[in-house]
Amino acid sequence: MEQKKYYIETYGCQMNVYDSELVGSMLNKCGYQITDDIKSADAIFLNTCAIREKAEETVHNKLDSLQSLKNNKPELLLGVLGCMAQNLKDVILDSKPYVDVVLGPDSYRRIPEIITNRNENMNHYVDTRLSKFEVYDDMFPSRREGVNAWISIMRGCDKFCTFCIVPFTRGRERSRSIEGIKKEAVEAVRQGFVEITLLGQNVNSYRTPEGDFSNLLDEIAQIEGIKRIRYTSPHPQDIDENLVKVMAKHSNICNNIHLPLQAGSDRILKRMNRTYTKQEFLNLVKMIRSIIPDCELSTDIIVGFPGETEDEFKETIEVVKASLFNSAFMFKYSSRPGTKASQYSDQISEDEKQARLEELINVQKETTLLRNQRYIGQTVDVLIEKDSKRSELQWSGRTEGNMWVVFDKSNCSSIKDIVKVKINSTHGVTLFGEIVNSLERKKNEAA
Ligand code: 5AD
Ligand code: SF4
Repeated sequence: MEQKKYYIETYGCQMNVYDSELVGSMLNKCGYQITDDIKSADAIFLNTCAIREKAEETVHNKLDSLQSLKNNKPELLLGVLGCMAQNLKDVILDSKPYVDVVLGPDSYRRIPEIITNRNENMNHYVDTRLSKFEVYDDMFPSRREGVNAWISIMRGCDKFCTFCIVPFTRGRERSRSIEGIKKEAVEAVRQGFVEITLLGQNVNSYRTPEGDFSNLLDEIAQIEGIKRIRYTSPHPQDIDENLVKVMAKHSNICNNIHLPLQAGSDRILKRMNRTYTKQEFLNLVKMIRSIIPDCELSTDIIVGFPGETEDEFKETIEVVKASLFNSAFMFKYSSRPGTKASQYSDQISEDEKQARLEELINVQKETTLLRNQRYIGQTVDVLIEKDSKRSELQWSGRTEGNMWVVFDKSNCSSIKDIVKVKINSTHGVTLFGEIVNSLERKKNEAA
């Protein structure tokens, strides 16, 4: 019998990347192999994102484009997974009746049963129940070969920021066992991964009877063979000195924190239900840099939240300048039906949001340049990840602080190595340099 094939397309955050790998391992068990050729697939899954309207539009368009494929091949299984499935199951089923399967983020264990039953009848399958317990602790995702392995450590979010759909699409917070996570990390190292990124919608709210996020990080850092550890995304409220000290204690935990600011005005932060003030955020940045002086920070910011005045937006710019982030993901507020903020009557016009976004991007560009220029003349550790986009003769890798560096290959360097690179210049968000060992060799040869 011919081998069945599945194709999966992932939208949105890293948690979805991880979930797609979990789904992949379940499909493997059902005898399906992955393919990159959508036309030859027997099953197509879209793992979707609902965080902003644009993300949803992209998936709707993709589903529209798949209709003819499905018409020509009725036995094709077409599945919508993830946050949009959870949120928009009725809309999807009404407007796209050719979709066969709709599964929310807590329902992936049903995949084997659905595949088996489907061979007997061609029904629709819909399951978007959210679970208080599901953490897929006993499952190993099917990862493609690479440098970094994502490991989900907790799921869901209880913070209920008023702009955010995640608490509704992914449900309540729950954490995996330390043992389960360690097992998965050891297995990832055995498979050849050298970097681990711990994932959660609210990664540092991780809590089990055996320990909290600092305890977990401390234990993972001691697993042999892990060159680098990162985590994302934390909430500023749950970062304390203890956590930063654990980061400082282990050389394989990267000096890098993604610290979502969202807004710089106290009134807007309160309306967003972010649970910290501008001053508390700035104090946190100070505390982190007092313990880890070379810690690089990145952030998320939303402009044009309902009711944000020009002066309040200027406060965001102020905090952004003062925090010296290396990089920032900047978004125009997108109203999400069902969230508290979508009911606020003082929504900001699209033009205003666009103008604020452009102003903020320019401010951050200047800061990124300043932050990157500090590295010129310095030698930094770079983990080689892939060929550079520009040339096969150059490597592309990241510093501990999460900045991309491009440099000429040397004879003895390969992917997954950490090499010393002297930085010579910077352009956009990228640093350019040369491997120090080969520099020294050249000097020796000349002598
Ligand atoms: N509109 C715009 N950006 C949003 N984010 C979350 N919800 C929205 C929304 N409704 C952003 C936040 C979050 C990041 C993952 O996405 O900045 O940190
Ligand atoms: Fe959304 Fe806030 Fe939870 Fe992050 S902490 S997932 S922004 S509700």
